[in-house]
Amino acid sequence: MKTAALIGPVTAWRRRAHSPVVFVPTMGALHEGHAALIRRAKRLATNKSSGGKRGGVVVSIFVNPKQFGPKEDLSKYPRPFAEDLALCKREGVDLLFHPAPAEMYSTDASVAITESSLALGLCGASRPGHFDGVCTVVSMLFNIVRPDIAVFGEKDWQQLAVIRRMVRDLRIPVKIVGHPTEREEDGLALSSRNRLLSPEARRVAPRIYQALLATAMEAEEAQAEAGTATTSVSKVLKRLKQDLTVIPGAEIDYVEIVDEVTLTPLKKLSPGVNARALVAVRFDSVRLIDNLSLTSRR
Ligand code: PAF
Repeated sequence: MKTAALIGPVTAWRRRAHSPVVFVPTMGALHEGHAALIRRAKRLATNKSSGGKRGGVVVSIFVNPKQFGPKEDLSKYPRPFAEDLALCKREGVDLLFHPAPAEMYSTDASVAITESSLALGLCGASRPGHFDGVCTVVSMLFNIVRPDIAVFGEKDWQQLAVIRRMVRDLRIPVKIVGHPTEREEDGLALSSRNRLLSPEARRVAPRIYQALLATAMEAEEAQAEAGTATTSVSKVLKRLKQDLTVIPGAEIDYVEIVDEVTLTPLKKLSPGVNARALVAVRFDSVRLIDNLSLTSRR
């Protein structure tokens, strides 16, 4: 595995790489959820039409200061570089790009990217400016790595939707692939924040996913009963809120049922509209997010 802290060697590597180059941007503190994204990237990099030549997998580790709010502690973000390096080697990453902030941002940088619709609600409401930071750094990383494909986890559903929109609107020639959320055996979505939970919070946190599953089941039954008619969202949403409210120690940040592409809150579940429940729940200072499709599989 090649590692690079500077942009120059990445550009040189890219010039020699076979397509497709598949990219997994991260902020480090890698866990099995990231490993699954890397494995997906490796499968995508195996281009059957190029006579057996494999494309390359690039991972970036960059704790992006621009996506942290003034009250969010950037300095406390975990940076276990040796462990991250070992995981990337184990998973067969071809190039690990790990720039310092000075390599990424000019001291007088004055250009940023703003997505002004999907980024406003949900996590964007309690983290103003967060998605500007994400869009700006992801577009910069795309310019540096010039991947054919980039893989993002579906756990950060809003981030995935915002990035898809940015790529669409700015005509960035990258295919965005969403990878399903990886979970612990008890259903808790894998996240670097899980290790910050108290033992009691860790014990009850899987109830977030259980509540989402119950909601998906209820939505499916209601839609089956309604047939081609529409089902009101309010009853399904009320039940989800109740299920989350009774989790000991949990404080709801948001619970919404939205169109999964536009992130617009839905009033009705209707055939042809892909609905998704998105939640954010706090246990003390640890904020967990999760989401699940409510689109009927029947
Ligand atoms: O999801 C993350 O880890 C970050 O938001 C990303 C996409 C690497 C941008 O910094």
